[in-house]
Amino acid sequence: MENVPFCSDVSYRSNPPQPAEAGGENPQSGQAIARVWHGTVEILSNQPVAQSTYRMAVGCPPVAERIRPGQFVMVRLAGSMEPLFGRALALYEVLRDEAGQTVAVELVYRVVGRVTGRLAEMGPGDRLELWGPLGNGFPADPTGHLVMVAGGIGFTPFLALGQEALGRRRYGLPARPAPWARKVTLCYGEPTAAWLAPMEEFQQAGIDVHLATEDGSAGHRGLVTELIEPIVAQSDQPCRIVCCGPEPMMAATAQIARRLGIPCLASLERPMACGLGICFSCVVRVRLPTGDWDYRRACVDGPVFDAHQILWDTEISLDQGSPVAHARDRRSVENP
Ligand SMILES: Cc1cc2nc3c(=O)[nH]c(=O)nc-3n(C[C@H](O)[C@H](O)[C@H](O)COP(=O)(O)OP(=O)(O)OC[C@H]3O[C@@H](n4cnc5c(N)ncnc54)[C@H](O)[C@@H]3O)c2cc1C
Ligand code: FES
Repeated sequence: MENVPFCSDVSYRSNPPQPAEAGGENPQSGQAIARVWHGTVEILSNQPVAQSTYRMAVGCPPVAERIRPGQFVMVRLAGSMEPLFGRALALYEVLRDEAGQTVAVELVYRVVGRVTGRLAEMGPGDRLELWGPLGNGFPADPTGHLVMVAGGIGFTPFLALGQEALGRRRYGLPARPAPWARKVTLCYGEPTAAWLAPMEEFQQAGIDVHLATEDGSAGHRGLVTELIEPIVAQSDQPCRIVCCGPEPMMAATAQIARRLGIPCLASLERPMACGLGICFSCVVRVRLPTGDWDYRRACVDGPVFDAHQILWDTEISLDQGSPVAHARDRRSVENP
């Protein structure tokens, strides 16, 4: 962390927590003011772990000691205006030194565009602009069986979450009471085996891992959502689902959870620019207790939402018009 050109703590104010719908839950942390560290960090390591997928450690003790499962950081290429906006990456793991001090944040990213493409070319000693921790993260609500459902790179928040839930690792300042789940399962799906990230750490932490690939090259042949019902049916504990991945996958997971009558949280990966609640590039439609809907910013009101409150794009009928029309004209929606 030597030669840090700038480093500052900034604060932002998030919306007050939204009331949860009956039978649901409110994943929002209730924090009105969040302190965000902003500075330049050094890359400590950057290794491929699967097809187009890399695991990167960045030295950043102020973020590493405070970040919790489900929170994220924004990164930019240091000293470059191109691309202008930051990119969001979820906490994968924090690294500690021999004395047990948190010193680094680990991120896992998949190459999909300009920033992730550049990240893949970088190595130890290269620098990034970074700000965080951001977002509400997952709550640590006491749970019998936590079922984590991941589509593609959406598995990244779940190592830290599963480890915390089982009491194997603790995160944040102050660290939350753990363990808070009796059993943790990860359902993880990819198109084909080459895209599957290594699962040894999940398994060593005591997480029960179930894989699905669309071509059947590893695990169940088919969609990851097909794994959910049998796992819930065979569980001897009350289940709670968390999901992260492509939105159609999360919408399908929410539908299954609703049918089974169990709570479901979704961590949204909306494109973001500031991560601080300023630009409104990340808005998501959520149901209100009144039956109407309104926009929430995924960066400060999420990224973790009650999946049953989200108005998934698949639920919006064509006659409701464009997002611009939505902004002008809030319409009433019915719970499915
Ligand atoms: C809270 C949060 C956590 C995230 N965590 C991770 C993570 O841990 N690892 C990871 O690899 N990615 C993660 N993402 C997604 C990542 O931020 C985007 O993929 C990012 O845009 C990549 O930047 P890029 O410059 O490489 O690609 P871009 O140039 O931004 O985009 C490349 C292509 O991907 C499309 N695209 C970009 N973002 C999204 C999106 N969110 N959903 C669908 N399509 C998109 C664009 O339309 C374009 O076609 C997260 C996003 C959020 C909001
Ligand atoms: S990313 Fe700017 S408001 Fe959410």
